[in-house]
Amino acid sequence: MATDWLKQAVPQSLQLHPYIPGKPITQMLRELGLDETQIQQRSSTTVKLASNENACGVPPKAVAAIQKAACEVNRYPDGDCFDLKQILAQSHSIKKEQLLIGNGSNEVLELVIRCFAGATDEVVYSQRGFIVYALATTAAGATGIAVPEQDGFGHDLEAMLSAVNANTKIVCIANPNNPTGSLLKTNALQAFLDKLPNHLVVVLDEAYYEYVADDIEDSIHALTHPGLIVSRTFSKAYGLAGCRIGYVVAHEGLLSVVNRFREPFNVNMLAQQAAIGALADKAWVLDKVKQCKEERIRLEAALESLGCLAAKSYGNFVLLKHTKSLVLVKELEEKGVIVRPLSPYGMPDILRVSVGTVSENNAFLKAFNEVLL
Ligand SMILES: Cc1ncc(COP(=O)(O)O)c(C=O)c1O
Repeated sequence: MATDWLKQAVPQSLQLHPYIPGKPITQMLRELGLDETQIQQRSSTTVKLASNENACGVPPKAVAAIQKAACEVNRYPDGDCFDLKQILAQSHSIKKEQLLIGNGSNEVLELVIRCFAGATDEVVYSQRGFIVYALATTAAGATGIAVPEQDGFGHDLEAMLSAVNANTKIVCIANPNNPTGSLLKTNALQAFLDKLPNHLVVVLDEAYYEYVADDIEDSIHALTHPGLIVSRTFSKAYGLAGCRIGYVVAHEGLLSVVNRFREPFNVNMLAQQAAIGALADKAWVLDKVKQCKEERIRLEAALESLGCLAAKSYGNFVLLKHTKSLVLVKELEEKGVIVRPLSPYGMPDILRVSVGTVSENNAFLKAFNEVLL
């Protein structure tokens, strides 16, 4: 008789469901029933606006750094990411020991949750906060406390505070939040931190920080709490989603514990060199952030004029509201545009549309106007 492996696995496996990422272009075309030749023909005209990537490409200096490092991948990477940490420490005016680099910021978020929350512990996050907090908490065997948002979009800090009790070990906040696009201002966050016990770990996930750098203060220096962990990534504004690299900044004592959970060579050599290259290409990054924000304003205005804007977003994506949103997803895919349904987050009416290049956004607006007819 075949073994029921789910029964053999740790009990929390029963509650876990794999993360559903934005649909890759080839997968969507395969699902439409196209053969390999048709997929090849259609893929260059298909637009993926489903994973909040940087649609403008890769910073040229990162490309050059990857090409140069390619001939050295017979060696293991530097497990400590010394050179990258040195540059980040300098640019953030912090000590190298206050940094931990991961295979995407996702890895570090998971390491932190695994390190500080186990059975009988609780992790508090917003109900429509980034879904990885709930997944990592369940995987760690801890209990997730999902706090509803008052308006359906933004963190309810008062309610999150009330959810903290003697079992709470970690509080997670994404700012701006994905998928709701909401933003908390620096003074609101500091007032919240002031009321939290000092022994708590507070994850402040700033994957979209570069898009709000003009709206809030730099949390790494403006916010204080002994357990504060600020997380950033190279996947969004820095255009390196495919490399998988991100990092956190926190007290060195806290990170020395998390570091025990890290696998020896968690960040590959190409990713480390790409990040160094991208940091040297600041002007490119800032230019693309500016372009993305202009396009976000244009997309939101267009959605608003159609009566389909769900809420203002501070990330590199916009939120579309329509009662037939799941039908629209399919119709948009048939017209070559992939967007992200938010039904897994309990928002069946809302689609998340990443900001693309000008021509990709035009393609989305054209297709959307057509499917609305
Ligand atoms: C809020 C938030 N945090 C973290 C991540 C993980 O990013 P990465 O692992 O690519 O650094 C994402 C990715 O979409 C995100 O939206």
